[in-house]
Amino acid sequence: MMTERDSGAPTARPRSFAEQIIDWQRHLGRHDLPWQNTRDAYRIWLSEIMLQQTQVATAIPYYTRFLERFPDVGALAAAPVNTVLEHWAGLGYYARARNLHRCAQTIVYEHGGRFPVDPTRLAALPGIGRSTAAAISAFAYGTRAAILDGNVKRVLARCFGIDGFPGTAKIEKEMWALAESLLPATRIEAYTQGLMDLGASVCSRTKPACTICPLAGGCIACRDGRQQELPTPKPKKLLPERETHVFILSDGQHVLLERRPPLGIWGGLLALPEIGHDRPPESLSAWNEAAAAFAGRHNAQLLRTRELPPLRHTFSHFHLTIRALYCAIERQMPSAAESGREWLPCDAIGTAALPPPLRRLLQAALTPDNSPN
Ligand code: ADE
Repeated sequence: MMTERDSGAPTARPRSFAEQIIDWQRHLGRHDLPWQNTRDAYRIWLSEIMLQQTQVATAIPYYTRFLERFPDVGALAAAPVNTVLEHWAGLGYYARARNLHRCAQTIVYEHGGRFPVDPTRLAALPGIGRSTAAAISAFAYGTRAAILDGNVKRVLARCFGIDGFPGTAKIEKEMWALAESLLPATRIEAYTQGLMDLGASVCSRTKPACTICPLAGGCIACRDGRQQELPTPKPKKLLPERETHVFILSDGQHVLLERRPPLGIWGGLLALPEIGHDRPPESLSAWNEAAAAFAGRHNAQLLRTRELPPLRHTFSHFHLTIRALYCAIERQMPSAAESGREWLPCDAIGTAALPPPLRRLLQAALTPDNSPN
């Protein structure tokens, strides 16, 4: 039997990562952005700084106005920093504009007005990190240097199935090594632009368009359906656990609430009265005894109690488990409430200034099926 190889017909070599990116860039990438089709390092540097935290469409009008006012690095270096900031106003991250100005002055006073070619020397200038230095050097001078911004990290994590948060030193080092190993021998400009554009458009964070992606055939995330898992998100901090015991004192018409102090968690909102901040009740019977005494202080008689399922709520810096004891009571007249506490009509629970988890807890507790009344 003749195999394809034996037939003498040329077998197609699979195209490399870089070749696929370059072909895609040639046919479907962007070619007419205002900072393309130039070798002017000043213009390229300005675009890369603007695009660090700003999308292309937003950056374009700023870029055009900026160049009209500061047509070259000398004009930028000579301008007062406040004039530079005025032309940056609206783009945000103003440290970028201050660094831009400082960088222009360094180029003029220490580099004879010319941007260095070597990415390592570029990366020593204010506001230029390793990836931005590589992009400037590639676009301005054709230097074979790897970029690795957030979008590129996403493309690499998905395509090569790299697990682990890319913000860690270990994964970042691995990705830099990979990015270096993928560089093409030639056409670095098209490759760099293609990689940036693919990361910003097709391989988007939430809705990657794998059906039109040039890398889909060899992409591990696409093969395994792991596009939403990769890149691995930043690990969540382990938060401390806290617990609180609260009473829901109600006669079916009203419920006893207290106003939180203005500062701190749920500041100024209504909340359920808490007991034993430092010493939680040791047993259900101790909790019941505390409830009877608590009801007495509010001129109410405890009829029945029922422990509700615990509710867990997460704040920015801790998890809180709320353990609630529903206390069916009969109010005696005159009505009493200790200072800072009030009897809220049950039909106002939906609209009162309650924290959402407590509103849900009360609504669940006071529905007829759940209440012990
Ligand atoms: N993001 C960063 N640099 C870019 C560039 N040169 N073109 C498009 N998006 C970018």
